[in-house]
Amino acid sequence: MENKEGAGGVKGDSMDLITSIALKRGFFWPSAEIYGGKAGLFSYGHLGKTLKNNFDSLWRKFFIEDNKNCYEIEYSSILPEQVFIASGHLENFNDPLIECKKCHFRFRADQFIEDNLKINAGEKSIEEMNNLIVKNKLKCPNCKANDFDSAKWFNMMFPVQIGATGKDMAYLAPETAQGAFLAFKREFEATRKKLPLGIGILGKAFRNEISPRQMFFRLREFSQAELQMFFDPDEVNNLDEKTWKEILKEDLQVFPQDQKDSKKKFITIKIDELNKKYKIPKFYLLQMSKMQKFYLEILKFPKDKFRFRELNEKERAFYNKIHWDIEVYFDFFDEFKELGGIHYRADHDLSGHQKISKENLEVFYNEKKFIPHVIELSLGIDRNILAFLDLFFKEEKQNDRTIFSFPDTLAPILISVFPLVNKEGMPEKAEEIYNMLKEKTTVFYDDSASIGKRYRRADEIGVKYCITIDGDTIKDKTVTIRDRDSMKQRRVKISDLRKELGI
Ligand code: GAP
Repeated sequence: MENKEGAGGVKGDSMDLITSIALKRGFFWPSAEIYGGKAGLFSYGHLGKTLKNNFDSLWRKFFIEDNKNCYEIEYSSILPEQVFIASGHLENFNDPLIECKKCHFRFRADQFIEDNLKINAGEKSIEEMNNLIVKNKLKCPNCKANDFDSAKWFNMMFPVQIGATGKDMAYLAPETAQGAFLAFKREFEATRKKLPLGIGILGKAFRNEISPRQMFFRLREFSQAELQMFFDPDEVNNLDEKTWKEILKEDLQVFPQDQKDSKKKFITIKIDELNKKYKIPKFYLLQMSKMQKFYLEILKFPKDKFRFRELNEKERAFYNKIHWDIEVYFDFFDEFKELGGIHYRADHDLSGHQKISKENLEVFYNEKKFIPHVIELSLGIDRNILAFLDLFFKEEKQNDRTIFSFPDTLAPILISVFPLVNKEGMPEKAEEIYNMLKEKTTVFYDDSASIGKRYRRADEIGVKYCITIDGDTIKDKTVTIRDRDSMKQRRVKISDLRKELGI
């Protein structure tokens, strides 16, 4: 799956194994694969898409439906140039680009330095990067020459011309967030003018990454789940007593800037201490607490593999006042990696849009006029999908099988139904059971190959329960349920099947 631009930086055999399962079984593959594919563009097959749909549904329920005054909208991902002048993306959304003078290969200067010198180059200026490349005589990864044009900033947005004149400039949105800022005034008025107001979007974002790599980490087209929480800035440290008392009981798993740099650890801190010692406002802590719950209780990530990492001023996105990344420990990479972030964007976007559009975006609330502040809960969906494939994957050599132990709510297929053989009334009974279960959940019917092979195939795509219909089923109306994780089998009556499976 590698091409000239590389999938680079990925460690280990498990990534190769997972990739081969993904291709073979229908999780994902490179887009336009029959034409050789294109780095940074992937398509989901039926299993990958269902996994993604399941993530979307859990996100929607947890962040939108179960929350007061939070709504989901849909946005247009082609947006006019003025939007990105206002948001600052046209000026600031840049990566450092370097070009080899000999072979004209172009790539990211900071990643080039990081890969070769094993230092963090994300905070360096263009001059510092140029100096490091020259001083260390770094060689072009493509032709090995060491003669480069000076690194320069490259804007990561994809330009689009709207209409036939070619003069009407637009861009593919590099984040879904702008859709929520553009909708804010209308939603505020349509939802009875109350704050805090949450506007969420599940949608596509586009970035012309210079060097797409590490599978779903640097894509050119990807999906985001973003929630913008609009609130009165005077209330940022002022939660109602009941909510504050509730979250005070919790500890957060964090890696603050005052800890020694590590890609592998976190500390556990009481919410109160984060408020007092680390000066994190209460409304921000509420969002962190929600996010930790989502990962540990809803997505069921192992507790020791989740943390928030604080970003310093140089690392933060240009629009952020406070920024903690949401990170998960990947076995593939043997370190914590970013899946999302909680961003205190303040009034950066609404003020920018008010200035450029000349529309008044102030609200009248709490007996005063002001521009609301925003805390953004931003997640990259594709990176989350990759995290599921890493975290829930197991290779059991002793049992000669590979499994995805997905939680039931994420599993693309929950149940498989097998007739033991294709005769003696078994296929008819199996069809009947398949139809009964299909009304309630995702079910797959498999009647090819030996029963052992069918179990292995089901394990490999994360099916939780396999139901086998055999000779006894016809006689005594019972079936076998086999559990994916324990491989234990039990015999149950067909009439009790739904109850036994909890569906
Ligand atoms: N609205 C804020 C925002 O877009 P970001 O940190 O640039 O912030 C948020 O992106 C998340 O989107 C990231 O944490 C990551 O999960 C995902 N993301 C960003 N760029 C990506 C890319 N090129 N490929 C895949 N996912 C990406």
